[in-house]
Amino acid sequence: MCGNAGSAPAAEFGPSGPLRGSLVPPADKSISHRAALIAAMCEGTTTIVNYLDSDDTRATLRAVAALGADCPAAVTDTALPERFALEGVGLRGPIDEVSIDVGNAGTLIRLLPGWLAGCEGGTWTLDGDDSIRSRPVDRIADPLKAMGADIAVSDGGLPPIEVRGSGLVGIEYELPVASAQVKSCLLLAGLTAEGSTTVIEPVPTRDHTELMLSAAGASIETGPGRITVRGGVRLTLDEIEVPGDLSSAAFFITAASLIPGSRLRIEKVGINPTRTGLLSILTRMGAEITVEPTGSSAGEEIGTIEVRAAELQGTEVGAGEVPLAIDELPLVALAAVFARGSTRITGAAELRVKESDRIAGVARALGGLGARIEPTADGLVIEGTGRLDTGSVEAGGDHRIAMLGAVSGLLADGPVAVHGMEAAAVSYPGFSRDLEELRGDQ
Ligand code: S3P
Repeated sequence: MCGNAGSAPAAEFGPSGPLRGSLVPPADKSISHRAALIAAMCEGTTTIVNYLDSDDTRATLRAVAALGADCPAAVTDTALPERFALEGVGLRGPIDEVSIDVGNAGTLIRLLPGWLAGCEGGTWTLDGDDSIRSRPVDRIADPLKAMGADIAVSDGGLPPIEVRGSGLVGIEYELPVASAQVKSCLLLAGLTAEGSTTVIEPVPTRDHTELMLSAAGASIETGPGRITVRGGVRLTLDEIEVPGDLSSAAFFITAASLIPGSRLRIEKVGINPTRTGLLSILTRMGAEITVEPTGSSAGEEIGTIEVRAAELQGTEVGAGEVPLAIDELPLVALAAVFARGSTRITGAAELRVKESDRIAGVARALGGLGARIEPTADGLVIEGTGRLDTGSVEAGGDHRIAMLGAVSGLLADGPVAVHGMEAAAVSYPGFSRDLEELRGDQ
């Protein structure tokens, strides 16, 4: 586990009145990772607009700079500018023999080997923090080996990873787990492989890689449940603008649904349908949420979301819906505490291998505040009790558990102390400031 807990004083979040106002959430983390990686794979210069300035996405910028991409913004400690240039090295251009520290970034350690595996002549090692070292990477190494990759992972299928670039051949691969990270890794590998690479997914997962590769000129075909990429096509991308992150906005969307009298507007946020599972689940629970599309960027829909507080009831969330809300399931559990009746989440065993074991972590966090919540092998069962006690939450180095703890404090009978709140910087460095601005007087 990551060991941030205890390194800074606990942050305290107390009960809040109605949330009011508007929020432009920070840039999307998933799309930012892809913007840096795909721009680095391109020929020429890409202008990246609204890149997320967070710990995770900084790790990706540093990685592509270490691989030879020219990006002055990537290597400074000052805040990233609103727009900056990244000159790519081309599909097969990464320089050899580099050690890459991915920090806490699961998306980076799962996507980057897909590119490097097909770059003959180089050897790279990828490693990260304690949390990364507990996250399975055999899920990418096994299919990459089937493509001819020379890749080794450590005991138990965990990082560190060593990749030696080699010639790849396209395969057809059916994902054993619904994972956009694995899908994306194989699509990136398919770009340098001979022939075509097809990924078959059991249920839809986020499609940001497919959309951005299409915008960059790759030969991508998508059909129901399958995506095919053809190798050898050079990429160019003039500009990519990253929409706001629905997964970050989700903390405030959920809080506004639950705190009576709230009325919140989220602007310039990505509303790609492969990411909006939380909105469907909350709406089914009775939430008052409207989504208005306002534009798009490189195939990514952008819009405005309005949320008003409403009475919620329990629901069932199953495997087909899980990938569309995978990072927001902790918030579904929180909503379920305040909903009438019971809620059952199943088919979500993947939560056990996120930045922390989120089935255990959510049960511990909300259970510790008095919720009636039971972990199961692949999900959670929650009885709506309508309240949370004052208390404390241990983030365990997981950014989403830290922010879940903070939002729980807005809803609890008294303050909630979050130990390890600094983990929020992985995806949402300005979270506490935004929360202070939106919270209402009691
Ligand atoms: C991500 C995909 C999801 C998600 C993660 C980011 C991505 O993981 O949980 O936070 O950017 O592709 P899986 O695809 O492994 O489920």
